[in-house]
Amino acid sequence: MKIIVTESYEEMSKVAAGIFAEEIIDDSRIVLGLATGSTPIGTYKELVRKHLEEGLDFSQVTTFNLDEYVGIDAGDPNSYRFFMNENLFDHVNIDKGNTHVPDGMTDNPHEYGKEYDEMIEKAGGIRIQLLGIGSNGHIAFNEPDEELPVGTGLVSLTRQTIEDNARFFQSVDHVPTQAISMGMGSIMKAERIVILASGEGKAEIIGKLVEGGKVTTRIPASFLLLHPDVTLVCDKEAYSLVGR
Ligand code: GLP
Repeated sequence: MKIIVTESYEEMSKVAAGIFAEEIIDDSRIVLGLATGSTPIGTYKELVRKHLEEGLDFSQVTTFNLDEYVGIDAGDPNSYRFFMNENLFDHVNIDKGNTHVPDGMTDNPHEYGKEYDEMIEKAGGIRIQLLGIGSNGHIAFNEPDEELPVGTGLVSLTRQTIEDNARFFQSVDHVPTQAISMGMGSIMKAERIVILASGEGKAEIIGKLVEGGKVTTRIPASFLLLHPDVTLVCDKEAYSLVGR
């Protein structure tokens, strides 16, 4: 795993956006894997700036998002589709028809998950995947457990994740308890992965990830250690417990 430690959240966001912009310039018909959460917001802001000020062209770009809450429709301000429109898609020249966020209202998550993975394959596979990390080591919504899902499908959120994400909802009781999430295999198929982490709240899990040197289903992000092209971009706060 390649590691880039930055001085600030802003610098982390610029580095990540720079990596994505280079890939888009290199292949205008690129397939991107995208993430939600508070961490990538600065990266999207910088990509929007690059579009507006430097002409970064999204017209041929295809995107697939990692996950969506179950029971929340696309128009809900807490949906990840809403988040993506608001933070990126509405501000660049992307064809929304080429943007994909799992459907949290599907009545057959298993079948739907299979179709989502097939859509990714049909589009040619993900060239570069953006990831955040949960404080418990989850990626997308693949939570620490005895087993981890390979393909996209229905997953249950842990208490910790529900509490971590409660800040976006009216109360902890309003946080959905399930999601449709890309599986570990779906994520690991991406040719290149960029994982972001910011702030002290991520220091413990980044310490474990970087120093662990082992794969465990108790830290889903540890599977990234098996991937040939992963870059961790994190600020110095998130990196502060490495080597301690
Ligand atoms: C959410 C998302 C993840 C994200 C993580 C961290 O639950 N499903 O994709 O990486 O939590 O979120 P944040 O960046 O807000 O810390």
